Formats: sequence, C-alpha cells, structure tokens
Amino acid sequence: MNFEHLIDLDDLSLDKLNEIIDMASRISKHPEHYRHACSGKILATLFYEPSTRTKMSFEAAMQRLGGTVIGFDNPMGSSVSKGETLQDTVKVVSGYSDILVIRHSRDGAALAAAQASLVPVINAGDGTHMHPTQTLADLVTLMNKAGRLDNLKIGLCGDLKNGRTVHSLIKTMCRYENNSFVLISSPEFALPDYSKDYITDSGASYMETDSLKDSIGGLDVLYMTRMQRERDVNAKESFNILDLETLRLGKPSLCVLHPLPRVDEITKDVDADTRAVYFEQTRYGMYARMSLILNMLGKGLGIEKDQSSEIESKTLCSYSNCITNQETYLKRLYEKDGKELICRYCEHRTKSKE
Ligand code: CP
Repeated sequence: MNFEHLIDLDDLSLDKLNEIIDMASRISKHPEHYRHACSGKILATLFYEPSTRTKMSFEAAMQRLGGTVIGFDNPMGSSVSKGETLQDTVKVVSGYSDILVIRHSRDGAALAAAQASLVPVINAGDGTHMHPTQTLADLVTLMNKAGRLDNLKIGLCGDLKNGRTVHSLIKTMCRYENNSFVLISSPEFALPDYSKDYITDSGASYMETDSLKDSIGGLDVLYMTRMQRERDVNAKESFNILDLETLRLGKPSLCVLHPLPRVDEITKDVDADTRAVYFEQTRYGMYARMSLILNMLGKGLGIEKDQSSEIESKTLCSYSNCITNQETYLKRLYEKDGKELICRYCEHRTKSKE
C-alpha cells in the first residue's frame, strides 16, 4: 500500500504547504461552504496519549466537513490493554475508516502506523519527535496575525528538549526565507542536536540564551511552551515566565503563540494583551485540520519521497523512546551517515554495529 501520509510537514512541497495554509484561511472565513465536503467519510482517532485540542479539533473539523468520527482516547479501554500491537490495531481500524489520526508517546509511532495502514495516516504527535498539525495551526495563525512566514525572528522558550511542537515548527520555519531563531531555555532543556542541525543545514541562524527578559525585545514571534513533566522527571517549574512586566519589553507587533496546555509559564493577565494570540491559535488549528483532511481525501498531498538511501539494519536504535524499542517486530530502518545510522522513525543517531 502506498498512500500519502502526513508524518512530517517536510514531506510536503512548500507550494503544497502554502496551498493548505491559504485554504485554511479561506475556510475560517466561510466554514459553511464546506459543510458537506466529506459527507459519508469516516475519520478514526487513535489517541494513545492524552489530548484536548488536537483530538477535539480533528473531531470538530471532520464533523464540520460533514463526515463522522470513530476512535479511542484511552487505549486501556481498547484491546491495546490485552496486548494488541500498534500495527495490528492500525490494520483493523484503518479497515473501518477513510483517514486515520494517531497520537502516541513513542517517537516514530506515526511512521510505524503508516506502514500498516489501509488508509492515509496523520501524525497527531509522536513522543518528543514531531507534531506537524500543531505546526500547521501555528503557520495559519502567523499568516493571519503576523502577515508573513518569512523574515521573522522567532523566540522559542521553555522545554525545547522534549517539546515536539518546537521541533516541528523549527523544521518548517527553516524552509521560509530569512527566519532566525532565539532558543530560550535552561541548558538542561536545550534543543536536541538533530533539531539544531536542521537550522544550520538550512543556512538559518540561531542563538541560545537562558533569559526571556533579555531577548524578548528583538523578537517578532515568541513561542512559549510548558515543561513536559510527563516526559522528564527533572522538569519542575518553568525557568522563564511570561508575565505583563516581561511582555512590556516586547515590540507592539510581537505575536505570542503557545501550543497549549499552559501550566505556569504565562501568567493569566497576559491573556488580555492583544499580542497574546494562543487562544485564537486553537481555532485556527481546527481550520488547518479541515484544510488538511480535505486535501488528503481530495486531490492528495503530492508527496514524492526518495527512499533509495533507506537501509535495514540489525542495530538497535539508541534512543530509548523510539517506537522500535517498544514494538520490536518493526523493521529497523535507517539512513547511513558515515559510521552512524539515522533512525527513520525517531531521527536520533546510533553507532552502526554491523
Ligand atoms: N497543542 C496540543 O497538542 O494540545 P493537546 O495535547 O491538548 O492536543
């Protein structure tokens, strides 16, 4: 089976990405025009990990398009609790549906799901790895609020190590002209090397700092994130907090985004500032998902992946949270880079043992 899956936004051409963003903006102005666009279609949601926004915005998106939704949001209430493998579950549920959305705590789970699916798969967040539909929501918000996706100085603040929304957003914003990044975190929650490599390889620049107060003044966009306590036992309270006093140091045109949920990293009084657009961002996320579903069930995403450099190896992926270390029947797929292997599922590097 060779369907077009959305595992990583990088799989889309920039033209296609912009088409999806433009369509989301059009839908946001006239959602009623799309009321019957997916009539008779079924979207399945497999949420192995908690979610409010992603799950409910996908459900709302499909229902607003005239389709229906099946799925689970508690794997312990499904046959996963009896030991069913990820790929067996996907094989079965994809036989009931036209498009499948998966969220999982393991990096690479969406790719593993896609390998077994009978229908197109959308990655709704895989471990610490990627969250492409959150990035779509971020891009639609930026187009509508900042008016552009290029020539932006973007500050990313909080848990940059575990925050998949950050990893996805950086990877995509590197594709637009002349963006630069300010990575604001304590050293123990710094951006992983593979994500820094994207910035460097794209020719964009970044600087690292631990102070939001010192860096906010130069930013066009501030992307706040929470500490990912469910992924990292060392994650305690937020190191940098956006309060009104700090926001006063920002430009009048600053856009403050946050994928949400918020914990303690933005004080509630910031919500009333017109630069705080994170609640509007959640609504743009629904329109972004409507546009994505329409494209995937309609004319497609136009993905042309070159997999000629992919190899299978007996070497175990060194990243403990990689899906291949849980679902051990999966083929271990890598790209070779000298003596190192880059895992196709989680993108972490492992020394080759062969
Ligand atoms: N932004 C986001 O992914 O939120 P949820 O975890 O609530 O889906």
